[in-house]
Order: sequence, then C-alpha cells, then structure tokens
Amino acid sequence: MTDLHTDYLGLRLRSPIVASAGPLTGDLDRIVELEQAGVGAVVLPSLFEEQIEHETGEIERLYTLHNDSFGEATSLLPEVGVHDDIVDSYVDHIGRVKHRVDIPVIASLNGTNIGGWLRYAQVLEDAGADAIELNLYSVAADPHVSGSSLESEHLELVAVLAGEVDIPVAVKISPSYSSLASFVVGLQQAGAGGVVMFNRFYLPDLDLETLDVVPRLALSTPDEVRLPLRWAGILREYLTMSIACSSGVHSGFDAAKLVLAGADVVMTTSALLQHGPGHVATIEAQLRHWMTAHDYHAVSEMRGAVSSSGAADPTAYERANYIGNLASYTSTFRGATSIGLSRRHGP
Ligand SMILES: Cc1cc2nc3c(=O)[nH]c(=O)nc-3n(C[C@H](O)[C@H](O)[C@H](O)COP(=O)(O)O)c2cc1C
Repeated sequence: MTDLHTDYLGLRLRSPIVASAGPLTGDLDRIVELEQAGVGAVVLPSLFEEQIEHETGEIERLYTLHNDSFGEATSLLPEVGVHDDIVDSYVDHIGRVKHRVDIPVIASLNGTNIGGWLRYAQVLEDAGADAIELNLYSVAADPHVSGSSLESEHLELVAVLAGEVDIPVAVKISPSYSSLASFVVGLQQAGAGGVVMFNRFYLPDLDLETLDVVPRLALSTPDEVRLPLRWAGILREYLTMSIACSSGVHSGFDAAKLVLAGADVVMTTSALLQHGPGHVATIEAQLRHWMTAHDYHAVSEMRGAVSSSGAADPTAYERANYIGNLASYTSTFRGATSIGLSRRHGP
C-alpha cells in the first residue's frame, strides 16, 4: 500500500491533498465530506483585513463618541476579543469544524498592511486553528511604491504576524514579486513556516454594453499547474520551510508532478468546485496509481525527487528551457515558416 503521509507546517497530514480556501471550506457539511474523501487538511476562506478593520473602526468610533481625549478613549477599548459579527461567525466556524473533523484546520487571513487587524490571528489560534495562512493578495498599482519597498513591507508584516501566534504561519503569495526566489527565502527568514504558491489573480473584465468594469471569476485549468511547478522545482533546495502548491491541481497526476518538484502538499479549489468534495478520493487514487506504476512507496520518497537539484537537467525550470520551448513548437498551419529557432535539421 502506498503511504500518502506528509509533513506540512510541522503538522503530520495523512495526505498531501489539501482543500484550499474557497466556498466549500466555508461549509461545515462539505468539510465533513472532504474529510471522508481523504483530504489531508482544510484551509478556511479568508477573513479580510478590510472586514476586520471596518468592524474595529466602528467599535473605536462608538467608544470615542463621548470621549474628548484619544488616550482616554483607547484605554476603554476592549481587549482583543470576539466582539463583532464577522469575526464572531468565523470563530464559531472554526469551533464547529474542529468539533466535527480530526484533520488539521488552517484559518486564513487576507491583508497587506501592518495594523490592529493582525491581533485577530491570536483570536483564531484561541478558537482552535492549527495554523494560519496569510494571503498577501495585493495589486501593486501605486507608481510611487517601488518593488523593494513593497516587498520589505510584506516581509515585515509576516514577521509581525508570526510574532503574534504560537501556531505556524504559511504565507500565500502571488507570482508577481520582482525577485520571487529572494522574496520567498525572505519569508522563511521572517518566521514563516511555509509558502503557498500561488494566488490566482482575478482579473476584471469590461462590459461593452454598460462600460462597467466587472468582476469575472473563472476557475483554473490543469495547464496552470506549470507555474507552481516551476517555482517548487527552483525553490525546494533553498527552503527548509514547507512548500504548498496551489493553482491548477485537478488530478492526481498534477499532484504527482508538484510533489516530485518539491511540494509538501498540493492544494485544490477549482476541481472540487467542479466535481464536488468526493473528487479528493479520485485525485488520491490517481496519485497512488502513478506511485505504484513508478515504484514509489511513499510521498516522502517522491518529494523533490525532480526539483532543480534532482532533475536530469538542473536548469530545466529556468531560462535555459526557453529556446528549447520555442523550438519545440510544431505548427499545423501550412503557411508557417521557420524563424531560425529550430534545432532539428533532419532530412
Ligand atoms: C470561489 C473562490 C473563492 C476563493 N476564496 C479564497 C479565499 O477566501 N482565500 C484565499 O486565500 N483564496 C481563495 N480562493 C483561491 C483558492 O484558494 C486557490 O488558491 C485558487 O483558486 C487556485 O487554486 P485552484 O486552481 O485549485 O482553483 C478562492 C477561489 C475561488 C475559486
């Protein structure tokens, strides 16, 4: 029998397949189904900085309404505690999930600014979360903020959050940092226990009739797995912290690729939304099938076996592959002409 056990953020998981943050993990019954289907852990939907700050802002406003001095007013502020609807229901959700399932439960915070909202990490820890995932979703749209200052701010934020709690902190990032490898190593130095690669950017669309800029969420396709694949392969040898890969995991074969590249766990949302929580069992069956066919007995044997240090061509995840990629394209369009990239000079 193949052994799917893996370690993630210092937690022992029975499977490397993790349900990432999304609508299913916001629903207690779906989480129970995910556990029954074999999932290793669940990440709850995010609690957003804006939601927390809004609610704490309201509380501060109420407390300061009848106070002239700010010092006096803040001394009257409640200690960090559960005192608002959104945090309240999030804490309830953690409690109910922990009561019903045995798998680790990872709470998620989503924000990018150092502020009072970070104190709520401790509330989530007290509620029973086994770890926190910090989602650093941000669009660097301010031309006055350089890449390096934005990255320093994000690293500082991670250090502050990691200092707030005793449970491990994973950081979910986008692939859009200017020097991704250096930034991820910085996350580890700042105290992160793991990195989740990657957030998907949800790009706006433009409605040509109303001229409104509108949100349009599209689920991922398996092709998207190649982005985290590259970065797991490159970064594995530089990191002692955990690597989770998220984006495009739809089958056990996608999972096998990512674990071979260096992932400790793979996360999936779109495939579970398309096929339901039971799809976890299919993914695991496919993973086991591949492992058996290729003589792997345990996920721990596979992990990183084809990272950049283990691959036959160590540069395959990097630029050296670029020319080869372009040259490997064969067009079915008869009018296509060679532009001199081809290395194949057959008869
Ligand atoms: C409907 C929906 C809701 C999501 N909500 C969250 C969220 O609250 N927090 C978060 O970090 N990621 C969220 N995600 C992103 C997923 O956790 C995941 O990282 C992303 O969908 C890529 O994985 P996939 O290709 O398996 O879908 C959401 C994704 C979808 C489709």
